[in-house]
Amino acid sequence: MSRYAYVNGRYLPHSQAAVHVEDRGFQFGDAIYEVWSVRRGQLLDAEGHLNRLQRSLSELSIPSPMGPTALMMVVREIMRRNRIKDGLVYLQVSRGVAKRDHAFPDPAPRPTVVLTAKRVDAASVEAKANAGASIISQPDLRWGRCDIKTVNLLPNVLAKQAARDAGAAEAWMVDADGFVTEGGSSNAWIVDQDGRLITRQLDNAILHGITRGCVADIARGLGYEVVERPFTLEEAHAAREAFMTSASTFVTAITRIDDKPIGNGAPGSVATELRNAYQTQQ
Ligand code: PDD
Repeated sequence: MSRYAYVNGRYLPHSQAAVHVEDRGFQFGDAIYEVWSVRRGQLLDAEGHLNRLQRSLSELSIPSPMGPTALMMVVREIMRRNRIKDGLVYLQVSRGVAKRDHAFPDPAPRPTVVLTAKRVDAASVEAKANAGASIISQPDLRWGRCDIKTVNLLPNVLAKQAARDAGAAEAWMVDADGFVTEGGSSNAWIVDQDGRLITRQLDNAILHGITRGCVADIARGLGYEVVERPFTLEEAHAAREAFMTSASTFVTAITRIDDKPIGNGAPGSVATELRNAYQTQQ
């Protein structure tokens, strides 16, 4: 099947889509991104991702390349051209192209805008989630503004590769004080022995996950107590359940951490209930 990408106003065959060698995203990681999930042709949490995109741009003083209505038209067109029923849409905005110099170029260049889309096999994603995920822990090597969704993902890449090498699906990153921050590409949750849901508060050490926010609202609506505070790896090992949330995994139960089973080693009932509720609500 032919794939298409959007680059600075043009829809191009995927193989011909490219950005300039002096793009600041390429040279400095001076760029932000967003990922939307698509199910049955519908974008999930469209507005939440748009709002976070705006925040990421403004935190880095990258001018907004287009308004939300125009951007959503491009998002829908890239879905249409790639015939996405179930899949993911990726958007990246960099500060633009300029002669290499670390500080912001003056005058500001036009931001580079790239969109791609890929299909996912929803049935196999479901089957994988139903089996639960094994994860590992890794030191959190990242910077102080993980709340901005930048493309500076090298520590995440290394953590996820360590997970892959260990036959695991995700890596939970642990800060210098022994607290879990988040996964390489997901937010981290546990359910304690009293049935309380615990996930780190929205600080600069984690991405403010859109799925995290939706799932917290759903959980509270279902009568769960959601406590937003840091938790340790030891607490995770002693938890009744653990799970992760993200646009690509929704709510996925974690059954093993560093090869030790969580609870009885099978996906927990809270994670399963929240996964179903999240998908029903979309
Ligand atoms: N990852 N934390 C990190 C480090 C992430 O990269 C992501 C998302 C999340 C969850 O955020 P959200 O619920 O808004 O997807 C948390 C996306 C899916 C990715 O990089 O592909």
